[in-house]
Amino acid sequence: MNSSVFSQLPPTDRPQPRVSIVGAGKVGSTLAQRLTEKNLADAVLLDVVEGWPQGVALDLMQARGLEGHDRQIVGTNDYVDTANSDIVVITAGRPRLPGMDRSDLIETNAKIVIDAAKRSIEYSPNAILIVVTNPLDVMTYLAWHATQLPPHRVVGMAGVLDSARLQTFISLELGVSTQDVQAMVLGNHGQQMIPVPQYCTVKGIPITELLNATEIDRLIDRTRNGGTEIVELMQRGGAYFAPASSIYWMVESILADRSRLVSAAAYLQGEYGIDGLFLGVPCRLGRQGVRQIVELSLTTAQHAALEKAATEVRRNIKNAERVLERI
Ligand code: 2OP
Repeated sequence: MNSSVFSQLPPTDRPQPRVSIVGAGKVGSTLAQRLTEKNLADAVLLDVVEGWPQGVALDLMQARGLEGHDRQIVGTNDYVDTANSDIVVITAGRPRLPGMDRSDLIETNAKIVIDAAKRSIEYSPNAILIVVTNPLDVMTYLAWHATQLPPHRVVGMAGVLDSARLQTFISLELGVSTQDVQAMVLGNHGQQMIPVPQYCTVKGIPITELLNATEIDRLIDRTRNGGTEIVELMQRGGAYFAPASSIYWMVESILADRSRLVSAAAYLQGEYGIDGLFLGVPCRLGRQGVRQIVELSLTTAQHAALEKAATEVRRNIKNAERVLERI
């Protein structure tokens, strides 16, 4: 073929959206795959293990022709390669092992997340931070505190995942398409999470009209233990496909400025009567991050549960600060 044909094609010098992912484990690698194969953004995978992110990136690149995209996927051990990212997703840290609570990971993950957040923002000062590392609500707070970013540019991914789990369990229980189910889970990403049945619907029909209290409680309980169920089954690690899909949803709403209403760990400044910490609440996510925290009317019991979740997060922030003082 006449090579001049290609030289006539205008070079695409339109800046491509770029998402850097700190932590090229299963969640980070699956996210890189989702972002690029859905043609949403270029991906930079960073990890401390020499060669690992480079291998994952090269593997994903070699699938481009088959998957029908030309997204750039870079693997690196150097933060300089994450420069000018629109979004940085922090997945780095240890996952739970069977029998562990997410809060057991504070000692190992606090410093990892703080370092990742500071280094990422050093090279991408305008980026939005999405934190994934557990214990989620505490790690999101530490990332924000370490970077002192405007709170709306830091958000934690958990509520989307917990809501997706409840959505799935409702669809399985009722034998309806998952597409027809809407679910909402608030609170922390742990035993104090708060599914809100009055805002869970099937094609607009509240599930309270379709399921009895015992059935709803059973689905809520399974949702609360959704991550643990998988850790116990897999034994060497935890969920990563649904977490990656959940992060993708948030990234897409931000990059496309879609203002999707999602449950996410956002910085509360008096909303729901809570101040000074990150907790899972309904948020509108747009190009600048959290555009708005939506205050729902909750039952007295749900308000109390939210306060209890906040108390647990505050306790764990104090634990994290004690750990960091010792470092
Ligand atoms: C989960 O719930 C990893 O915390 C995440 O599966």
